[in-house]
Amino acid sequence: MIETKLDIQENPNKKAKPDPDKLQFGKTFTDHMFTMEYTRDKGWFQPQIVPYAPITLEPAAMIFHYGQSVFEGLKAYINTQGDVQLFRPEENLKRLNRSNARLSIPPVSEELLLEYLKELLSLEKDWIPRAEGTSLYIRPFIIATEPSLSVAPSKSYKLMIVLAPVGSYYPEGIHPVSIQVEGHFTRAVRGGTGTAKTGGNYSGGYNAQEKAADQGHAQVMWLDGVEKKYIEEVGSMNVFFKIDGQVITPELNDSILEGVTRKSIIELLKDWNVDVVERKISMQELHQAYKDGILEEAFGAGTAAVVSPIGELSWDDETLIINGRQTGELTKSLYTTLTGIQTGKLPDPFNWTVQ
Ligand code: COI
Repeated sequence: MIETKLDIQENPNKKAKPDPDKLQFGKTFTDHMFTMEYTRDKGWFQPQIVPYAPITLEPAAMIFHYGQSVFEGLKAYINTQGDVQLFRPEENLKRLNRSNARLSIPPVSEELLLEYLKELLSLEKDWIPRAEGTSLYIRPFIIATEPSLSVAPSKSYKLMIVLAPVGSYYPEGIHPVSIQVEGHFTRAVRGGTGTAKTGGNYSGGYNAQEKAADQGHAQVMWLDGVEKKYIEEVGSMNVFFKIDGQVITPELNDSILEGVTRKSIIELLKDWNVDVVERKISMQELHQAYKDGILEEAFGAGTAAVVSPIGELSWDDETLIINGRQTGELTKSLYTTLTGIQTGKLPDPFNWTVQ
């Protein structure tokens, strides 16, 4: 019988909670964390909630060498009844297992992990900020721990969940940002790891991000890695465009991450009877729409920022100014509705939230 009973060790040294007005993204962590181990003999075992603290690994642990790891990101809120509320956590846990499969990491029980997460959240309830735009960001992740330099899947893993009270992803809150269309670097290629939430997909983007930041842009927009023609993502988010009344988002291929916010936006738009399509969209097509005056709105969508409007797109020598650098009406409605459902301030006709 695999050991699945959760052991809880309470932290006797609780930290002071941060000022909710000064929260940055992912800089402060709560008093406890969840950990669980994996070996080939035992499977996943020893689920524990312990005080948040540094961990010890051998320098030869495989995570340090070939980056075998996956992560997730989701948020908890306190709803209007004062209960802890999660937004579509089962989608994140399913994706964790899809990422695991891509990175040759053994699958985890989604049901058990959700139970453990709920226990951790009930212990850390006081850490969930309530102010507008704030939440408790949940970061589950798995790392390869076997001490070995072999280029092969690790025989042991550690799964952890850490929690961070967060404010808006962008310190300025929701406001249109300037984006550079990346013409050289590629985020992901066909057959690569782009659909998995794995660290290398993100650190591989830093070069482009730094180059864009040097030129005053907030983020980059990624084109496909084969033809450098079709739009894939923006920064670490999925991307949407409103063109002549229709909303278009790049269709999922095997290099685009299947975002939970992306999926929710598509479902919301369908519910609102807004014409929404998932299809390939090239930078040339977007540029033509801009020239024709029918590129109405553009925004990124992800768990961290929820919705992030694009004010301008810099492509080669041209700057495409979108909606006069103002947040579009549809972008605003999506942000208000999604955050309203997530925080419990609006009704949840889709049964997306879990208490
Ligand atoms: C998100 O938009 O939620 C992301 O994936 C960004 C995260 C890596 C901080």
